Amino acid sequence: DLVTLKNNKKHKTKSSRDAPALSKVFPISGFLSAGADFIRFVIEFHDKKYYTIAMIGIFGGAFDPPHKEHVRIATEVKKEFSLKEVVFLPSGNSPHKSLQTPFSLRLKMLEAALEGAFPIDQTENEFPGRAYSYLILPLLKQKYGDVAFLIGGDSLLAFDKWRHPEEIVKICPLIVVPRGEDDIDELSAAAEGYMRRWGGDIRISRTVRGEDVSSTAIRAKCALGMPLDDVADEVKAIIEQNGLYRTYDAYVQKVKGMLREKRWRHTCGVVLAGLKINERVGLPFEKVFLGCLLHDCMKYVDRVNPGVPADVIGTKVLHAFNGAEEARLAFGITDPEIIDAIRYHTTGRAGMTALDKLVYTADMVEELTRDFEGVEELRAAAYRDLDDGFVRCFKVCYDSLIERQIPIYYLTLDCYKQYCK
Ligand SMILES: [Fe+2]
Ligand SMILES: [Fe+2]
Repeated sequence: DLVTLKNNKKHKTKSSRDAPALSKVFPISGFLSAGADFIRFVIEFHDKKYYTIAMIGIFGGAFDPPHKEHVRIATEVKKEFSLKEVVFLPSGNSPHKSLQTPFSLRLKMLEAALEGAFPIDQTENEFPGRAYSYLILPLLKQKYGDVAFLIGGDSLLAFDKWRHPEEIVKICPLIVVPRGEDDIDELSAAAEGYMRRWGGDIRISRTVRGEDVSSTAIRAKCALGMPLDDVADEVKAIIEQNGLYRTYDAYVQKVKGMLREKRWRHTCGVVLAGLKINERVGLPFEKVFLGCLLHDCMKYVDRVNPGVPADVIGTKVLHAFNGAEEARLAFGITDPEIIDAIRYHTTGRAGMTALDKLVYTADMVEELTRDFEGVEELRAAAYRDLDDGFVRCFKVCYDSLIERQIPIYYLTLDCYKQYCK
């Protein structure tokens, strides 16, 4: 800050020294030069490229766990918007998220991830009741002065579903950090729409783009026993010491034991793709994780479970029906939505639930083993919009069955009639 101040001072002295010299040569030029400065100021102000007063950026999140991208985003946003500081604001313990790691451990991980590079604010943990942004931001403004609130592109698209968004925009500017798949035009249109409705100041970062890293994916990787590349070593150590994200270990070990290596890799891919699709769908983590994890559990088991319809025995779709019963009988799954998503992941059906579509689609587009021609396009569609992605995937499968003259199960025909006609 001192350096900036000095430079500014130097710059000012230089231009005010220049101005009289110019005006001696040609009296009006001093006025013109001042005018140019003023125009430049107006343009910069209009472009909203810089904040006139250095603000404090507020970076909120669960940080469960914090990852390297969080640190990079804070560093880059601070630079782009000339912020005085970026303060990390971990959310308090949510009574609605039973699987969330306790605040004390999330704080410990965040301290390890930041290594003192950015301050951490504990307002949300101390706040009585639910810490909605429209309640917390005024407190932070009192504490820090002018603040700007950092949100992800996905949050911006759902901003009108937040509590009192019209109040939030009046409290402080928002800085939006687009995520990997986000479309800048879509974000700009959303921001302009909100500003037209409620006023305020919503800016979209033009230089910072969140890479394809999410805390949800890291929790899943941890649960699946995959390497955690995007997490600092000290954070990894805390995760391991405290056995975090291992809630489903018994299921994971059991499924892994039932599958061949490549099928296990595919299963891991389906879990990760399913969770990524779910970023825009918003189903509970448990439903997505278990539905995807168990979908192929009976792929290599000949035994036929009770409850499997006779007409699928000996066909390619048997493992799906068999898997649904296995989930119920051997894994103790009681959620009928999870069981159905496993049951219909190969055939589809009329009246697919969101979870049915999600497992079906993730099965087809996962990134670890699927590499057929055209998969990238299906994948992009699935991450953008599940309904569209599902129909595209289903059509590809259906056409391939027709082409290969494979008999089509009646549920698949029902599905085709509902979604493709
Ligand atoms: Fe399958
Ligand atoms: Fe599969």
